[in-house]
Amino acid sequence: MRKPLVAGNWKMNGLRASLLELSMMARAYTPVLRARVEMLICPPVTLLFPAAASALGSGIKVGAQDCHAKASGAHTGDLSAEMLFDGGASAVIVGHSERRADHGETDADVKAKAEAVIGQAMLAIICVGETRAQREAGKALSVVQKQVKGSVPAGVSADQIVIAYEPVWAIGTGLTPTIADIAEIHADIRKTLARLLGKETAAKTRILYGGSVKPSNAKEILALADVDGALVGGASLKAVDFMGIVEAA
Ligand code: PGA
Repeated sequence: MRKPLVAGNWKMNGLRASLLELSMMARAYTPVLRARVEMLICPPVTLLFPAAASALGSGIKVGAQDCHAKASGAHTGDLSAEMLFDGGASAVIVGHSERRADHGETDADVKAKAEAVIGQAMLAIICVGETRAQREAGKALSVVQKQVKGSVPAGVSADQIVIAYEPVWAIGTGLTPTIADIAEIHADIRKTLARLLGKETAAKTRILYGGSVKPSNAKEILALADVDGALVGGASLKAVDFMGIVEAA
């Protein structure tokens, strides 16, 4: 009942020439795949508008990697959710661990951003995940529970949010948690969502795994009952890699 979502996060990578990869993805996103898997690409904002134009009609959705929580005003260099929607976004990633680490974003900041995204009728992809030290201290579950509780806006429905579980130590490192660890955390996130939003909403909300997902490990990870897709960094830059993950889903 939950349609898997495979989302690509290009981070600070990509020039206009990279849109060629997007066109290749669009060509490979066949009607059969479209019926079974949702696809989203979040390029840098400079490419948002041309990416949305180039993906038009392909079924691939385009999103952004962050937004400001406020609607407008004196915030030099920032972008509001409305601006991103206007530029062609239908989803925004919020609370990525790189934003949390590089820009000191707190759970409360992430929640406010998610509210802004939802306010523009876009999908908020809310990221959570423990550090290596927190995992080694046996605190992964409690850290992630706290992040979910603090970052998910109250009263949201299952089509307004997606949770992305991304252990910080697995991002861009080639390392992944064991299959059992991923299963445990995803099941626990769904339990936390049930407490926050009710059982029915929790059962319908998609929980993605992110961190060193590639075509060779996607099948095993995506086969888990509570894994409803992937948030992919490095492997989303090349159409062949990304489509391998979409096909696995
Ligand atoms: P990675 O990044 O796939 O390159 O590990 C994942 C992410 O940060 O979303």
